[in-house]
Amino acid sequence: MSVSVLFVCLGNICRSPIADGVLRHRAASAMIDVVVDSAGTGDWHLGHPPDRRAQSIALQNGVDISGLRARQVTAGDFDTFDHIIAMDHRNLADLMALRPAGSRAKLSLLLDHADGIGLHDVPDPYCGSDDDFAETYRLVETGVRGLLGGFAARS
Ligand code: 4NP
Repeated sequence: MSVSVLFVCLGNICRSPIADGVLRHRAASAMIDVVVDSAGTGDWHLGHPPDRRAQSIALQNGVDISGLRARQVTAGDFDTFDHIIAMDHRNLADLMALRPAGSRAKLSLLLDHADGIGLHDVPDPYCGSDDDFAETYRLVETGVRGLLGGFAARS
């Protein structure tokens, strides 16, 4: 049975689409069955493709996220997904406030799946530089690697 993961950031055009693409890509390479999606807590970018800087850094690393489109988290997501994984504490607090009582998804921070990294938040790169997007990619990839390691250990 496959595990399902929803990555969540604020706008769903920078961090969570990168996480979505990296997990899809790595899970496919490792032949691990995972259902992956991403969403934002905010609604400013509904239907938009990922930010061009996010698309660019992902593609430089062999991950094509051009087909993803932004959507907002829904109450139903908390029963659809096994894991809802936030990029930062603010996203996590917003998710906790949205979570319907008794829903099944486990909430966590992405970097809490990366043992020993010493960071908890993937900082919002939206107002940053290309270097900030490169750092976002590095952090997201580290978190996704830890997450996949955890899935592999449990299967
Ligand atoms: P993300 O970045 O949460 O990583 O997608 C952001 C994108 C857009 C905005 C904020 C953060 N915004 O305010 O429009």
